[in-house]
Amino acid sequence: MARLFLFLSFFVLIACSSGKKGDSVFNPAKTLDLSVLKTKQTIKGLTVADSFPRNITKGKKDWNLVGVRDWCSGFWPGVLWYTYEYSGDETIKAAAEKFTLPLKVIAYTPAEDHDIGFQIYCSYGNGYRLTGNEEYKKVMLAAADTLATLYNPKAGSILSWPVKVKELGHNTIIDNMMNLELLFWAAKNGGDKKLYDIAVRHAEVTMKYIVRPDNAVYHLARFNKKTGEFIKGQTHQGFADQSMWSRGQTWGIYGFAVAYRESKNEAFLNTSIKLAEHFLNRLPEDGIPYWDFDDPKIPNSPKDASAAGVAACGLLELATLVEDEKLKEKFISAAENFVQKLASKDYFSGDTNQALLLHSTGHYPKNSEIDVPIIYADYYFMEAMLRLKKIEKGEMAVVNAK
Ligand code: GLY
Repeated sequence: MARLFLFLSFFVLIACSSGKKGDSVFNPAKTLDLSVLKTKQTIKGLTVADSFPRNITKGKKDWNLVGVRDWCSGFWPGVLWYTYEYSGDETIKAAAEKFTLPLKVIAYTPAEDHDIGFQIYCSYGNGYRLTGNEEYKKVMLAAADTLATLYNPKAGSILSWPVKVKELGHNTIIDNMMNLELLFWAAKNGGDKKLYDIAVRHAEVTMKYIVRPDNAVYHLARFNKKTGEFIKGQTHQGFADQSMWSRGQTWGIYGFAVAYRESKNEAFLNTSIKLAEHFLNRLPEDGIPYWDFDDPKIPNSPKDASAAGVAACGLLELATLVEDEKLKEKFISAAENFVQKLASKDYFSGDTNQALLLHSTGHYPKNSEIDVPIIYADYYFMEAMLRLKKIEKGEMAVVNAK
């Protein structure tokens, strides 16, 4: 019965959301309502709290689950917190609490990689923002200290992948910009003030070595681990060293916007803006990026809905920071375009499977997670819709924990 309701709701939604932006029929609240329904359905099928949705195999309906150490473990509790934030539904809150708890181990054991920010900020960070639970705060402060153990003062950046030091030396990836928010938060919420300095220095080094003169980003920068000397920029998940890997570019847009919000260093704001402008200028006709802008197989190449979701959030963050009204409007409008397209029948999964969104690409060169639902696409899609709602209501405040 619930499935039938979901199925019918989807058709009502599609009828309502296929209009062009500006048509009164496009309504993100309807998509949010349906997302709540879908998430409630998914919760019923997930009985083990330390297994987390990550992706869905093509042709299958249910999430493939991963353990707490997977870099994606925080996104499912994050989706639950966002869903609770929108709906106020106490059963969803209970599920969010249940799936947040097992991630605690990450804060209190040696750092395995830089993803601690994604894992803890999306789960505990949203949980703390919405509930004020002091236990969550303790875990976040411990997690920030654990993340900071990966900082290399010679290079001035956080080590992203300790397991790859033998192969790559001290390595820092653009994605790591997203993990600075946890350090900034900790430094102003009772944690060590050095966490702020680490975050700022990391952003400066990333800006110097990972942001390229063509306003795209390398995925990865390599440094001599002893001297900290920069060796080279290269790709890892993109098509080529000099190509524009879509999600990497969006981690940069969002990450530098947050780094500016917290430090007021104008160079970070300008970096975020130029990465955003470059990304928007190169979008394909339907407005959703291919997995890499320079894949020669385009247009016969998979899209990455997750990059569109991250871009929407980064642009909405930027819109709260830029003073120029035209630029503000431009970024809000671009974010609305992403959300509208993602909510359309081309990308919204409806009754197809448990995810909210179809068509994300995880690691194309490794032939992994190509053109499938991936949990972080759902997470940033929910965040973007909530941000848009806040902007609509005249509350330009950011969504994430302060
Ligand atoms: N942070 C890993 C990725 O974006 O695929």
